[in-house]
Amino acid sequence: MTLHLLDTVVSTNDIAARLAKEGAAHGTAVLAKCQTGGRGRMGRSFLSPEGGMYLSVVLRPAEPAAQLMALTPILAAAACDAVEEVTGIRPEVKWTNDLVFQNKKLAGILTEPALAADGHMLYAVAGIGMNCGAAPLDESIREMAINLPVEDVSQLARAVALHWEQAASTAVSEKHRWLEVYRRDCVTLGKRVLVTGSRSFYALAVDVDDDGALLVKKDDGSMERVFSGEVSVRGLYGYI
Ligand code: BTN
Repeated sequence: MTLHLLDTVVSTNDIAARLAKEGAAHGTAVLAKCQTGGRGRMGRSFLSPEGGMYLSVVLRPAEPAAQLMALTPILAAAACDAVEEVTGIRPEVKWTNDLVFQNKKLAGILTEPALAADGHMLYAVAGIGMNCGAAPLDESIREMAINLPVEDVSQLARAVALHWEQAASTAVSEKHRWLEVYRRDCVTLGKRVLVTGSRSFYALAVDVDDDGALLVKKDDGSMERVFSGEVSVRGLYGYI
């Protein structure tokens, strides 16, 4: 694992993608003090003031992309392992890609895969943004986000990068073990959820399948697999 330490960047995911295109090895990591154009899922921006952890890692899993559908949940479980190792605190996860602590958002993960024409994964850039510095949270996110006091952000970043490197290498061979860890940490399961996207509906979150999809039971009793879109969890982030 190689860690590049940078000051202000637009997005560490962009820098890691450039390094990946130039041939950077599996596990190459980029940590920035702040980002001016941090990106989240679904085209959202990710506020990235100084003090937080903004980390991206180049991952080169050897298996075909079709076998790596569960990569993001596996990375979320591995990030929880890293946070626990460094701080003694184990966060929970909100499906699919949020780390949660005390019912508030601690971190978000954005995985951006680059696929070859035959569907093979050339590489994936996985980024994580975590509120972990002493700086107060921006007022716009104070209700739903939480800060984890961490003395040494680069120590935590190194731990996450190492855990991700190992997790991406074992994402297929040890998928079932990883998904068991994910299910145990997942606060979404057993809760009433609001699924929004191309269609919106309420349901009960029942399980996470082997592709990382959320299995929900709708109010009419039918089951549905949710792969993408927003899933709000009752009791979390203001969904009453
Ligand atoms: C989300 O909450 O939707 C995901 C947020 C991911 C943010 C991280 S910060 C490091 C990396 N660089 C980015 O531009 N985004 C990710």
